[in-house]
Amino acid sequence: MRLRERAMKTRQAITIVTLVGFLVGAVSCMAEQDVPTLKDVLKNHFLIGGALNGRVVTGRDSLAAAIVEKHFNTATAENDLKWQRIHPWPDQYNWEPADSYVAYCEKNRMAIIGHCLVWHNQVPRWVFRDDSGNDLTRDVLLTRMKDHITTVVGRYKGRIKGWDVVNEALNEDGTLRNTPWLRIIGEGSEDKRYDYIEHAFRWAHEADPNAELYYNDYSLESSKAKCDGAVALVKHLKSKGIRIAAVGIQLHGSLTHPSVEGLEYAITSLAATGVKVMVTELDIRTQSRGYRGADISRVSRASTSDSDAASAETQKKLAEKYAEILSVLLKHKKDITRVTFWGVYDGASWIGGSPLLFDRSGQPKEAFFAVVRAARESR
Ligand code: XIL
Repeated sequence: MRLRERAMKTRQAITIVTLVGFLVGAVSCMAEQDVPTLKDVLKNHFLIGGALNGRVVTGRDSLAAAIVEKHFNTATAENDLKWQRIHPWPDQYNWEPADSYVAYCEKNRMAIIGHCLVWHNQVPRWVFRDDSGNDLTRDVLLTRMKDHITTVVGRYKGRIKGWDVVNEALNEDGTLRNTPWLRIIGEGSEDKRYDYIEHAFRWAHEADPNAELYYNDYSLESSKAKCDGAVALVKHLKSKGIRIAAVGIQLHGSLTHPSVEGLEYAITSLAATGVKVMVTELDIRTQSRGYRGADISRVSRASTSDSDAASAETQKKLAEKYAEILSVLLKHKKDITRVTFWGVYDGASWIGGSPLLFDRSGQPKEAFFAVVRAARESR
């Protein structure tokens, strides 16, 4: 009797455990199905994507990969195509990480963005120096730049949809930034100040005539002077017959920036030059104090970490800011071709706090649903 009772109880317990397991599975599966897909809700508007690091494309970060494969139809390599990573020494190219990124994007049918060819950061020192450590001459630096662009763009010809040809060439006041590129190739002459940029675009075009070519920078949405500098740059390139398809507004924002007005000013004035506009590095820092730009020598996870990031109040503000930005982008969707987040989820972002749409365990946040709502409202 006792034995039979115990057997019955065990069977009941097994049945309950199985049922609960089934229910939990069904609920989480339903919850997963309930989460809309960003690339679907935005499909009539613009491409949507994220910056990918090596852990995503090699499958080591499966949390990020699941988000990317469900939500994104475009991707940018966060670091693997930068000069320092892909061309660390004069005669040495490091193709493996970039090849894995391109292959991963192709496998997942995403539009592939190349970031970036000419920049003053994440470029090795040898690029600007001769064997004795002196600055190169203009001609030698131009030859180095040409070799790099031709080799890198040429390798992925027909596979990379568009390249950030020149990144962050402007100061906040709209003048050209004093980088080794400008100093050496421009030779301090007013007439040659745009030279390095012109050459970069020409050689990128020669290496892959069908690739779209972009100029990319930060604070265009918050400094009118800088935005005007970008407009002048585009006009100059166009006056020389050089092809430029779009300008990338990086849009590293904060809970209080950009203003609707600043963002609209940037979109409309850039689009008026005849190029498309892209948001190329979208994130919103939750930390409220400190430096607000995107100069990588001043930004780090530590400098942007925020003990209040997870609070309901901060998450609500984050959702509101994302909703506001998205509604501006959707209002101007005829000019906007792509929106890319700088990272996939909070844990993999280059900044601290809670800057993206998915939390550290990969779950969609209030900000995610705010973006979906904004997209659905814009038909
Ligand atoms: C950042 C990467 O996210 C970091 O991993 C890296 O350490 C520094 O660069 N503007 C750009 C991006 O154009 O390339 C930068 O990416 C962020 C600012």
